[in-house]
Amino acid sequence: MTFWKKRTSLLDPFGRTVDYLRVSVIDHCNLQCIYCVPPGSIPWTPKAELLTDAEIARVVRAAADLGICKVRITGGEPLVRPGLPDLIQTLSSISGIEEVSLTTNGTLLARCAQDLAAAGLKRLNISLDTLWPHRFRQITGFDGLDQVWAGITAAVSAGLSPIKLNVVVMRGINDDEVGDFATLTRGHPYQVRFIEFMPIGPTAHRWRDLFVPAEEILSRLEGAEPLTQECPEGVAHRFRLPGAAGTIGVISPMSRPFCGACTRLRLSADGYLRPCLFSGKGVDLKDPLRAGIPLRKLRLLIQSAAAAKPEGWMAKGGAIPEAVAQTMCEIGG
Ligand code: 5AD
Repeated sequence: MTFWKKRTSLLDPFGRTVDYLRVSVIDHCNLQCIYCVPPGSIPWTPKAELLTDAEIARVVRAAADLGICKVRITGGEPLVRPGLPDLIQTLSSISGIEEVSLTTNGTLLARCAQDLAAAGLKRLNISLDTLWPHRFRQITGFDGLDQVWAGITAAVSAGLSPIKLNVVVMRGINDDEVGDFATLTRGHPYQVRFIEFMPIGPTAHRWRDLFVPAEEILSRLEGAEPLTQECPEGVAHRFRLPGAAGTIGVISPMSRPFCGACTRLRLSADGYLRPCLFSGKGVDLKDPLRAGIPLRKLRLLIQSAAAAKPEGWMAKGGAIPEAVAQTMCEIGG
């Protein structure tokens, strides 16, 4: 029997209501993107150290009691984890969870898009940094562009909408494709989102070479054709080409940081609940979960992570954050 009837809201010390939990379900990725993991650099977490489906569900249940209503499944590559549709079904049926979404590289999507949609998945972000097969290999270390397109097509057929395509723009690597990605939105209702490269983990040192500011991305787009401004969605400033079916978004964590509006907590695949992408001041939930922590105490731990949310890593005058040592794969991309 539960005595926790009334949903509260989870407030951080800066008055932000934390309502969004990103859940990394595995740190392993089947690609090795140059902005994320240098080849062979990471020993993946052994399976026994990953939270089980039941443990993840318990955390999400406790978080939902506190007011978390949106969950995003991330990795590593989440579709590498066996049985993901079952986990999504469990999470979507938790009372208070209004939306379960997924970030994927799309390579394994074709075979399971239908199952994911049937399980209650609402929408997808797919990482796609190039439209050229040889560049896909250069950026990710693998040939897989056809698989990603098959995944996108399957997601459309499964009714997953909107489909957001995340493009990390990198100087000298794919910055000449900004126009081609924008053109893609003419005939397809995709939301293409150009993302500024962030200095995180072992690839942080490449930041100075690879970073392209949002302003430059936009000026390339505007050079071609007039864009109309759409209402922003989440962290993206959005635009549309005249008459286009889809939209173009620009996400600028570096040049226009959005920490002030951050409502997220992040759970890593091994059960560490992090208050911020750039903060190690989180709490371990795995050991308490395995010691049988009651839901009431689990809620207190989640509240303590929200209480540790920093104002923002860019709050103090736009300095580049100190590079965090872990990769996005380990933290949860
Ligand atoms: N800079 C910006 N975005 C990144 N991602 C991973 N590493 C970085 C980085 N260094 C994001 C990309 C990718 C998602 C999985 O994580 O948007 O699509």
